[in-house]
Amino acid sequence: MNNNKLPNHVAIILDGNGRWAKKYKLPRSAGHYRGGMNLAKIAEHANKIGIKELSVYAFSTENWVRPQEEVDYLMTKPIEIVNENLDRIINANIKLVFKGRKDRLKKDILDLMDKLENDTRNFSGMILNVCIDYGSYDEILTAIGKMKENTLEAFNENLMVKNPVDFLIRTGGEIRLSNFLLWQIAYAELYFTKRYWPSFRPKDFDKALKEFSKRQRRFGGIKS
Ligand code: IPE
Ligand code: IPE
Ligand code: MG
Repeated sequence: MNNNKLPNHVAIILDGNGRWAKKYKLPRSAGHYRGGMNLAKIAEHANKIGIKELSVYAFSTENWVRPQEEVDYLMTKPIEIVNENLDRIINANIKLVFKGRKDRLKKDILDLMDKLENDTRNFSGMILNVCIDYGSYDEILTAIGKMKENTLEAFNENLMVKNPVDFLIRTGGEIRLSNFLLWQIAYAELYFTKRYWPSFRPKDFDKALKEFSKRQRRFGGIKS
């Protein structure tokens, strides 16, 4: 692939775990488990092909309204899966960062998140932002509250995810953003696929990137 046309920062809305499970007559938790395992695989692949930053939506500020059992599973299992895959992440030199509100998470999960961030803090490979209890409204309001002066730089500085997104992928077939990185995707190219997240393979990622490479980004200018 032509590296000039590779996005620096890719964001993925990991959607469709529940419908994947339903299709195979499994409990929704099985979909979340497979989805979590798939994240390790796709992150490894993205890093290998030279993506600099990958931000994934794992749990939104709105997902708390789901049944308690599902919330409990989502609040613990994905982070444990990341921990179980730590060797792969370390071998790949991936720097893991958790984004989102921290005030509604349980202490043992926060401790595990801290440990994972610390274990990978000095790595120079791809940055993997895992967004948990993340929502753009929350991020933007918090950033506004912290701003010392009314400038774009001061606002950006106070965001959780600071770099603009080049390419946004949503799996699962919905054509919406569901409160993910609304500010950062201002000039991103958007890509929606019907494939459910647990069955989204590295070759599907490559196919999406190929589509990105054909897009002409103009940022308000004219065709060059
Ligand atoms: C995405 O899968 C994971 C989270 C939102 C946490 P869903 O659980 O939303 O799966 P569907 O959309 O019901 O298929
Ligand atoms: C978006 O998916 C949130 C995550 C993938 C974490 P949802 O399944 O929660 O989105 P809606 O409710 O269909 O918009
Ligand atoms: Mg969904």
